[in-house]
Order: sequence, then C-alpha cells, then structure tokens
Amino acid sequence: MQQAKLVGLQKALQQRAALQQLRQPVTVEQYGGRLLSIAGKSYLNFSGNDYLGLATASEVVAAFAEGAATYGAGSSGSPLVTGQHSVHVELSELLADWLGLERVLLFSSGFAANQAMLLTLADKDDHLLLDKLSHASLIDAALHSPATFKRFVHNDLASLNKALSSSISREHQPMVVTEGVFSMDGDSPDLPAMLSLCQQHDALLLLDDAHGLGVSGPEGKGTAVAQGLNNDQLFCYMANFGKALGVAGAFVGGSKTVMDYLEQFGRHYVYSTALSPALCAAVIKSISLSRSQPWRREKLHSNIAFFRAQAADLPLLASSSAIQGLVLGSSKRALHLSQQLKQEGIWLSAIRPPTVPRGSARLRITLSSHHSEQDIQHLLQSLRQYL
Ligand SMILES: Cc1ncc(COP(=O)(O)O)c(C=O)c1O
Repeated sequence: MQQAKLVGLQKALQQRAALQQLRQPVTVEQYGGRLLSIAGKSYLNFSGNDYLGLATASEVVAAFAEGAATYGAGSSGSPLVTGQHSVHVELSELLADWLGLERVLLFSSGFAANQAMLLTLADKDDHLLLDKLSHASLIDAALHSPATFKRFVHNDLASLNKALSSSISREHQPMVVTEGVFSMDGDSPDLPAMLSLCQQHDALLLLDDAHGLGVSGPEGKGTAVAQGLNNDQLFCYMANFGKALGVAGAFVGGSKTVMDYLEQFGRHYVYSTALSPALCAAVIKSISLSRSQPWRREKLHSNIAFFRAQAADLPLLASSSAIQGLVLGSSKRALHLSQQLKQEGIWLSAIRPPTVPRGSARLRITLSSHHSEQDIQHLLQSLRQYL
C-alpha cells in the first residue's frame, strides 16, 4: 500500500522536473545583506526581501541576543496559555500606535496570519473577492473557506466592480482582498479608488502589505498611508516581519472587535506556539530603526529610481517598488539566465510556475538599501550581455 503512495509521489516529482519546475534548495553559508556566500562563492544578492538592510543591522542582532538573555529563546506556549510575554504586548502596542490601528495580533508567519484572517472572518454566506495575483497564503485560505470565492482581474477596478455587483447580500458584506505591493510583479492597486468602490458596494477591504510595510509611506507606515489613506479605514491590515523589517513573524491589525474575534476564533492564533520573545525584541528594534533612519528608505528609493532609469531598454514589468520583474516566458530560459548571472557573481533566482502564471517565468529582481549604483550597473550590464 505504502509503495503505491510512493510511486505517486515520485511521479509528481518527475513531472515537475520535466517541466523545469523543480526547486533546488540552496544553503546560504554567510549572509551579509548585499552579499551572499553559497557553496564557497560570494555573490551580489538581488533575490532577497531585506529591503532596508535591517536583517544584519548590529542593533537588531544585539536586541535579538539581549531578548533571548532576558526572556528566553522560546515563548514556551500558545499565546492564550503561557506563551504571551510582556515583550509580545510591547510589540503589539508599538505596531498599533505606529500604524494607527486599534489593536493587532501577532502570528508566527505571514502565511499563518493570512490563513487566520480569511478562514476566521469569512463565513459560509460571505463572498471573498481576491485579486487574481494574490499570494498563495490568501488563495489557499479562500479555497478552503466555506465562503463564495471569486477572483478579479489583477488591479482592475472594472473587474472588481463587476464581481461586487454580483455579490450583493443584505446581511453579508463582501470582503475584498488585495496586496499593497504584489510579491511577484511589484505593482500596487489604486487603494483610494478601491476603497471608494468598496464603500459604494458596502464591502470591506483587507490588505496584505507584506512588501509595503517599512518601505512605503512616511515612517514606513505602508502602502495605504503612502496613498493618502489611514490604515484604520481598512477592515484588516496584515503585514509580516520577515521582509523589510528583516526578522520573521507577522501580524493582523484592525478594530478592537475584529481582533478580539480573531483572538477567540483564529485557530492559527489559538493553537500555535507564540512567537519567540527574543524575536519580538529584535522586531521592536527593527521598527525603531526603520522609523528613525529614513536614509534606509531614501537609499532604497534612489536605487529603484536609478535602476528604472538605467534599465529603460529592458522588458521590465511596470513597477516603482523594490520588486522588478523581468519576464522571460519559459522556465528553461529563466533558469538559464539565472545560471549565466551566477558566472558574473550575481545571485538572482528564476521564479517559475506555479509561483507565477504559466508562460511568465521570470527573474524577480529585488533591490535594497545595501546596493550601490555600481552593483546595479553590474547587474544591468550582465543582463544585457546574456539577454
Ligand atoms: C504578499 C505576501 N503575503 C504573505 C507572505 C507570507 O509571509 P511569511 O513569509 O511571513 O509567511 C508573503 C511571503 O512570501 C508574501 O509575499
């Protein structure tokens, strides 16, 4: 019996390999932000999400060590048993104050936060409307939810309007879910227009701002604030700590009622070990640096502008964020170019289906405040040489 199962698994692996979609895990031997060391060789890193260079900031690293010495390495329980320590409360209150939210709840990852947010808040008679390019954590939650699930065309208000018009129910407000910065394309929705459309249809707007928090808006308050909104105009604001803040973990924020409800009924919250308190101490320091050192954001945005100006001849997706997509089409081509760049000392992973739609394999270039203009020029020269 077990044999039959194994044969099935092997077949699926072989099929994935035949499609050039097999992922090869790499082990980073040394991480320096700008540089990565893999298999004894150093590479310029254009594949990470450490947009502000905070993962290696000495103050953040020291806060992590001090946090472990003070609170212990692990939380030793789920948050409603004995897992919540004073540093969790401090981090939650800091986030709420920084982002203008009534209350936030911490989660062990962005994936868990998104699952909890949609699976807990959407009931059988609800309608969940998701952007077509939503992250897997949102799509999976919507697929597993008993709510009616529809997708609208990426960043397309007319398509959303159509989906909203067919989701009218007296008692159940439709829930519209989008991202501040899309993880693979790097573009953003027009959030004020989307919110106003939601208001016209009495719908709720939920935002995953994993790639916007820390990067956009004054003091890094995220994409909604950068576009002139307040985060509390959203039904939920979710983001994680593993991207610009350089650590790991996540949160969902919103009104006290919504968060009280998630705290009681969110299974990913209730039945999961609370974040390590040492990690919370590191995130607190990271938030403080991200707010008080605007040069990190300024350097990142000047690198983005420099990259866009220098790369005008390349077939890039339209994006003014740290994520710049160079779509190549086939997985084979994306893998080949990624290999060629390695010879030039550049680490730039190929992103292939099913992470992105079929036929849109790409190099997902990510910029950070660590990069210099020479680094960017080296990348562009190498890309031109091989394209
Ligand atoms: C848009 C988006 N949402 C959620 C997640 C999941 O976050 P985490 O890596 O903290 O689980 C990611 C990260 O891959 C993401 O890009």
